[in-house]
Amino acid sequence: MIPAKAAFRVPLADGGEVRLHPLSPKDAPGLQAGLQRLSPLSRYRRFGRPVSRFSAEELRYLTAVDQRHHVAWGASDLSAPGRKGIGVARFVRLADRPGTAEIALTVVDAHQRRGLGILLLALLWRLGRAQGLRRFSGQIQAGNAPMLAILAQFDARIEASTGDCIDVSARLPETLDGFPDSALGRKARDAALRLSF
Ligand SMILES: CC(C)(COP(=O)(O)OP(=O)(O)OC[C@H]1O[C@@H](n2cnc3c(N)ncnc32)[C@H](O)[C@@H]1OP(=O)(O)O)[C@@H](O)C(=O)NCCC(=O)NCCS
Repeated sequence: MIPAKAAFRVPLADGGEVRLHPLSPKDAPGLQAGLQRLSPLSRYRRFGRPVSRFSAEELRYLTAVDQRHHVAWGASDLSAPGRKGIGVARFVRLADRPGTAEIALTVVDAHQRRGLGILLLALLWRLGRAQGLRRFSGQIQAGNAPMLAILAQFDARIEASTGDCIDVSARLPETLDGFPDSALGRKARDAALRLSF
């Protein structure tokens, strides 16, 4: 079981290093600041609408989480002064589908394509499996190639599609051996192995 208050330093594949930690209300200012480093496209892909600032209520929802039904972790950059937040991973269990949680990943634009997204997926996999989850679901925009590529590592299927939005459901491998033998699948497995807890 992963301790809810744990924090870990994890190397990225490109030689950088991040600190992963469970979010709590004291991360609210960092989340607000991180939003300003997210491009309009990334904001739209994450929230499905333009967002310029989080309200106090949104910040509470995003950070005051119980780490059981609503799990949220942040990634901060250890390679630069200031240890700015550069990513967030979260899942929220679905009340009507035990064993399934809706996931959301965010990596600020300047740090995308460094392997952090797949590392955060591996983190959610470890946390989700430890809590008995079997599936991740997500509402993904049809043009969101990065997130679709990431979810495809988990035997994803399209459940519905409305307009620009696709409902994806992905089965969690039970063990690391269940990760696909593809380039990205191997990266996801390596990332999970780097999470030494
Ligand atoms: C989705 C997201 C978290 C991915 O983060 P990331 O750190 O860039 O992801 P990675 O570097 O681990 O890339 C994983 C894979 O995604 C795919 N990918 C990433 N960026 C891509 C792009 N711009 N175009 C096509 N595929 C892409 C690639 O297959 C990549 O693997 P590769 O680099 O080995 O080819 C990031 O793009 C993001 O925050 N987007 C905005 C918010 C969002 O869309 N969230 C998902 C909906 S909740």
